[in-house]
Amino acid sequence: MGLVSIAVSEGIAWVEINNPPVNATSTQLRHELLLAVNEVQGCRRAVLSCAGRSFIAGGDMSEFDQPPQEPHLPDVVDAIEQSDTPFLALLHGNVLGGGLEIAMACAWRIAAPGTRFGLPEVNVGLIPGAGGSQRAPRLLGWELAADMACSGKLLSTDTMLEHGGIDLIADDLMQAAKDFDAPRPTPVSQRDTPLLDADWLTEKRATLIGRSRGQQSPLLNLDALSWAITPFAEGQKKERALHLELRQSNESKALRHVFFAERAVTRPTALRDITAATLNNIVVIGGGLMGSGIAAACLLKGMNVALCERDAAGVERARETLTRLLDGARQRGKISQSRFDQLLADCTIAEGYSAAANADLVIEAVFEELSVKQNVMAELDQIAAPHTLLATNTSYLNPEEIFAPVRDRSRCLGLHFFSPAHIMKLVEVVALTDGSTETLASAFAFARSLGKLPVQAGICDGFIGNRILAAYRRAAEYLLADGALPQEIDAAMRAYGLAMGPFEAQDMSGLQIAEANRRRQDADRPANERYVTLGDQLCEMGRFGQRAGAGWYRYEGRKPLPDSAVTTLIEDYSQQQSITRRSFSATEIQTLLLAVMANEGARIVEEGIAQSDAAVDLVKVHGYGFPRWRGGPMQAAQALGNSKIQEALAALEESSPNSWRRARRFT
Ligand code: NAI
Repeated sequence: MGLVSIAVSEGIAWVEINNPPVNATSTQLRHELLLAVNEVQGCRRAVLSCAGRSFIAGGDMSEFDQPPQEPHLPDVVDAIEQSDTPFLALLHGNVLGGGLEIAMACAWRIAAPGTRFGLPEVNVGLIPGAGGSQRAPRLLGWELAADMACSGKLLSTDTMLEHGGIDLIADDLMQAAKDFDAPRPTPVSQRDTPLLDADWLTEKRATLIGRSRGQQSPLLNLDALSWAITPFAEGQKKERALHLELRQSNESKALRHVFFAERAVTRPTALRDITAATLNNIVVIGGGLMGSGIAAACLLKGMNVALCERDAAGVERARETLTRLLDGARQRGKISQSRFDQLLADCTIAEGYSAAANADLVIEAVFEELSVKQNVMAELDQIAAPHTLLATNTSYLNPEEIFAPVRDRSRCLGLHFFSPAHIMKLVEVVALTDGSTETLASAFAFARSLGKLPVQAGICDGFIGNRILAAYRRAAEYLLADGALPQEIDAAMRAYGLAMGPFEAQDMSGLQIAEANRRRQDADRPANERYVTLGDQLCEMGRFGQRAGAGWYRYEGRKPLPDSAVTTLIEDYSQQQSITRRSFSATEIQTLLLAVMANEGARIVEEGIAQSDAAVDLVKVHGYGFPRWRGGPMQAAQALGNSKIQEALAALEESSPNSWRRARRFT
């Protein structure tokens, strides 16, 4: 045995699991645990605990793609529950998935303060596979079981104790186990479930449908829970069958793909052996929406921050914006009132860039104008110490040009945050040709220490995310000209699982941004590329979007409503272009727009702008509301199949010739 050790003393068997990092229930562990259950027979009691920072925090996800190996987890769990020697579980850290299933099979549970309990299978598109959905309602009631299984919520020790999920909270688990004395209770699987209220179930289902944007696993978890009204063995059998079926589902594969991408992409192997500098003194230049957001993100992680503006009025505005953002964090319960006061007092907000002399990292977030940014860099080149890293938050400008005034460009890079910067997790880390790997490694470490997900991007118009967005919007506008309406396209993409469709999203951010992008690209646009002028026409009419009260939609408050004036504008446009309008089904719209995103993503990978498909997917899921349960456009395209993508691209090329370049993999 290697992962499980047993020491018997005074009739008590102390069973300890040691399978770092999180004691996952791998095949080997299940095997050893089952042997241990046999071995402790004859003892008065067995005490089950885990070494390291946590109790069992789930299954070994790397095994999920393979056929399940014996012994299966339900066998181990049942053996523990049915063991003549009763088990006492000592819990600390995270007790998740299979960990909670094992804990619920023990006769008693004692937890250290701060232990967290959950059935997060739903987060990877699964339901529990070892009786979790059947024991949780019996142990904790429907509401808490649903919180865990359907919403992936974690429960605290206090909640668990209050609802009888654990027997005791103790600082010293070992001592508590020695002192513990209670008669063996009825096994959880043999207890009655509380009465299941049909109205509660209907309401829960409706809430989950409203929230899950097409993801199936929250609802399937609710189904599985409801089986707990049948005899345990029956419910468990159905649970296991569905669990195994879901392991093969596209949804689970997609969610696991994102889970792994979040870990792999944000820690590139090429940077693994490079020493990263600790960046703790941060100077942000430009205290607008983005600069203040970045400053707030750094402050909330305890870094030293100075926010620099160009004049006194700018300082005042920056202070207001930063105060508003931090106050939001206070209202959401992220920080206390005193911490809020402290952070504001600690943050230097000043005119001019002198603070840059003591910075580890300077992040520029001034206006999106090359000359303004270059002037900032020319000054920083004089002020900042040689070791100070210089970053730009530009969305579209070429960082190589922004940093032209800097003599040593090995310390320069792009750090493209997303709005609101203190909340959104994505950061595109843009590498310069002359940039050093140390700079890159330090930037990755910095972004991770902010709790962000850094993704490396090369230089092109819009980097990874905005470049795909531009292609997607262009294709959506072609659809308008060819016969679809904004509300049809938006509804189709929402039904696909996106938070918003392309036109309502444009209305929200303001049409002038998209217009400015089109204007900027005018010079590079091939003469024979199809260009739909509808967006420009709306801008000429002053319909700049939600804030202007009208855009692709008309507005009642914030609610977008289809506008007959826009319909007429679109129909007239088609007529002027001699286009016979035709209808598009939701599936056709979804497939076409997915194909465009995947094609642009594939080109970005082929050009070396993104390091992998997973990097593209992470950007779209975390920066652009692409449904996580579809795994990102690359994963979704793969699930749909290359031939469908190629078909959609061919249709697009026919209606819009000379306007698309196909990625090699889709030719
Ligand atoms: P903003 O207009 O809200 O803020 C710019 C701020 O920079 C203003 O407060 C202005 O007073 C200040 N500023 C201008 N020139 C300055 C100078 N020479 N020295 C010091 N401060 C100066 O703009 P926003 O939206 O914050 O954007 C800033 C940068 O971030 C731009 O490059 C933009 O492309 C980029 N970005 C914007 C995103 C967004 O969603 N708004 C998302 C990601 C990047």
